Amino acid sequence: MSERIYLNNDWQFSPEFNEKMLKGTFKSPLEEVRIPHSVCKMPYNNFDEECYQKVSAYRKVFATKKEWKNKLVLLTIEAAAHQAEVFLNGKSLGIHKCGYTAFTVDLTKSLLGPDKNNILVIKVDSRETLNVPPFGYAIDYMTFGGIYRDVYLEIKNPVYIKNINIATDLNHFTSVVELNTEENIKGYSLTQKITPYNYPKAEPCAELTSGIKGINTFTASDPAPVVQWSLETPELYVLETNLFNGEDKLVDTKKIRFGFRDIRFDKTGFYLNGKKIKLRGLNRHQSFPYVGYAMPENIQREDADILKYELGLNEVRTSHYPQSHYFLDRCDEIGLLVFTEIPGWQFIGDDEWKDVAVENVREMVTQYRNHPSIFMWGVRINESQDDEKFYARTNAAAHSLDKTRPTGGVRNGKFGKFQEDVFTYNDFFHSGKNKGVLHKNKVTASSKGYMVTEYNGHMFPTKSFDDETHRTEHAIRHANVLDTVCEYKEIAGSSGWCAFDYNTHKDFGSGDRICYHGVMDMFRNPKLAASVYASQAPAEQVGDILEISSSMDIGEYPAAIRGKVWIFTNADSVKMYVNDTFIKEYTVKNSPYRHLPHGPILIDDYIGDRLVTEDKIPPRTAVKMKKVFSAIAIHGIDNIPLKEKFIAASIIAGGKYTMDKLWQLGGKYVCNWGQGSVTYRFEAIRNGEVVKTAVKSACKKITLETICKRTVLEESNSYDVALVHIAAKDQNNNIMSYCQESLSLSVAGNIELIGPSSVSLKGGQITIYVKSKLPKNSTGTLKITDWQENEYLINFKVTKQM
Ligand code: GAL
Repeated sequence: MSERIYLNNDWQFSPEFNEKMLKGTFKSPLEEVRIPHSVCKMPYNNFDEECYQKVSAYRKVFATKKEWKNKLVLLTIEAAAHQAEVFLNGKSLGIHKCGYTAFTVDLTKSLLGPDKNNILVIKVDSRETLNVPPFGYAIDYMTFGGIYRDVYLEIKNPVYIKNINIATDLNHFTSVVELNTEENIKGYSLTQKITPYNYPKAEPCAELTSGIKGINTFTASDPAPVVQWSLETPELYVLETNLFNGEDKLVDTKKIRFGFRDIRFDKTGFYLNGKKIKLRGLNRHQSFPYVGYAMPENIQREDADILKYELGLNEVRTSHYPQSHYFLDRCDEIGLLVFTEIPGWQFIGDDEWKDVAVENVREMVTQYRNHPSIFMWGVRINESQDDEKFYARTNAAAHSLDKTRPTGGVRNGKFGKFQEDVFTYNDFFHSGKNKGVLHKNKVTASSKGYMVTEYNGHMFPTKSFDDETHRTEHAIRHANVLDTVCEYKEIAGSSGWCAFDYNTHKDFGSGDRICYHGVMDMFRNPKLAASVYASQAPAEQVGDILEISSSMDIGEYPAAIRGKVWIFTNADSVKMYVNDTFIKEYTVKNSPYRHLPHGPILIDDYIGDRLVTEDKIPPRTAVKMKKVFSAIAIHGIDNIPLKEKFIAASIIAGGKYTMDKLWQLGGKYVCNWGQGSVTYRFEAIRNGEVVKTAVKSACKKITLETICKRTVLEESNSYDVALVHIAAKDQNNNIMSYCQESLSLSVAGNIELIGPSSVSLKGGQITIYVKSKLPKNSTGTLKITDWQENEYLINFKVTKQM
């Protein structure tokens, strides 16, 4: 039988590799680290990628166990950025050239005898000069360095199950069971059992037995009953495969989670289980503040939850490389489709480089193909030029290892040599003033499936502390694109650029090594544009969404003109009140975005009946005046459209109202000057009930809100990290975007801080990361002291799940 032993703890780290470390006699003290690990700690911004350009060493001493006699001992490293060489007891056992895929090295022959200490050293090269993807030219993301995903040993019998490739459609199942060897397998057989993941004790849906047919054994069945994996009900099953030797003794067991589903692209769009789905997604980089790629299981899983349950997405593109299985596992569990691709960014290298890229395809497909959430393989270097021979190889590699999924190849050039199954195009056509994306026939003549894989991004970088006009335009640009993608039926869907801000190289970003392209910031706190996405999803998925694009403070705007103010909601309607006087009820029909399920709604009335009831203006004149004032509110007095100018002139020509009177009423209804404080209230209504309220009025007091969803940190295969979200809010629960004050942080007990002990709010928000520390089964406290000396204590429990 096989056993897995995680090796994430008790590593010694040196930022410089030295041959002497390979020897048992090496004694110099090194830094004690745990994995996931980053070769350097980084500030939030304004740092140089030089800091992680290193050849470092991870060193670990472990004893050979007696039970390992006659067994194979395999070491797997899930990810080491970007080239790793494994040494055991001084001997090099292999080099792996990809920072984003896993690799396994057989340690058996180099292990010392029972109870003897082995010296395991991993030499990790994180220099961006390596001749492997994505390196070779400029890259718009930092690539970091270190062993940042799990490391484990597996103890196996000499014949074991190396891989299983499961393929399904709606309810048919096939698997290819690959053994590590063809030698000495005479008489071997296997059994397989499929059970529902959530009901492991339920009757199996299928049980199979088969003789071993060589290194690969094919099995097939029609299990029953099964429920398809879908976005709403992502049902998962477990395939347990048991391998028996000629004497019928169990020699290996492998359990793999999978789902039954059918995926298809054609010229009309994307279909999951025969149902057409418009893909609405964003791109995700796997980096985090301070630690680059090094975040453990729970944080990876929580990113998937953010995408599905906070942003209301149904798809994510793992730009521009394969990402953590923990992230993918969670996508499988919650029904979030994933487009995953090989590492690379615009540049294709020499033959040696290309060989590595083809190997990257093989590793990606072999390692990730049992995730039901993955619906397409990206087999081109993102936005690279055509290279027919090279891409024939990458496509063939993917097709030979997985017959069920199409390939895509993300390009930014139109037409060109199209070798994949789906035309995947980064469409940066939208400039804020034109249509959201191009029509498919302007990009490709192909009659195959078509998907937009990026838009916006660098076209409109936006910080959570930019002014409201900027943040609103950012949100509306996302709405413009999403609306056109819905309008153009032959577009299967889109992945916008991007979910989260990210650290990048000097050639990109805002001069501080950050690309502010996310609809959330690097801490996963939402910008306004996040509401455009969230409001497209039903309340059962994202809760009730009601967001107003403006604080309603006219002083925020040039010449005190608010311009267009938008309501983002997934409710049936929104009622607007000014100082408790009802003004108007808006429904989605009021949205200029006709193709979205819940298009942003433009506020076009700040007056309601008040001209009649408060100012005693006759109803017909009041209608005319409203038109004029609404036009002034949006365009400003100097840019008032001709139509409304004529209306204003006709009111004055009527002789009853002077320019002064209009000016006075305009002051009251457009500018709110000199009045008592004006309160705007919005009520989101669903099924006749108010489900959410937003109130905009002068800020009286700021309170710090601290939200920590998980206060139990689980020490399992490695350390755990929990997040504390902090937001400065006014008395109406609005985030105060221009509150950038400082917070001091300190910890006590078995937790430590990731990042500095003094931080400032960014756009009124910040996230604090707290990391568990051994010894286990204890507690820790985070103390936050705000700029007014208020203290907030958050208690954590650290538990052991080994
Ligand atoms: C694309 C590229 C992305 C990112 C984006 C910024 O061209 O594929 O990685 O750089 O631009 O908008």
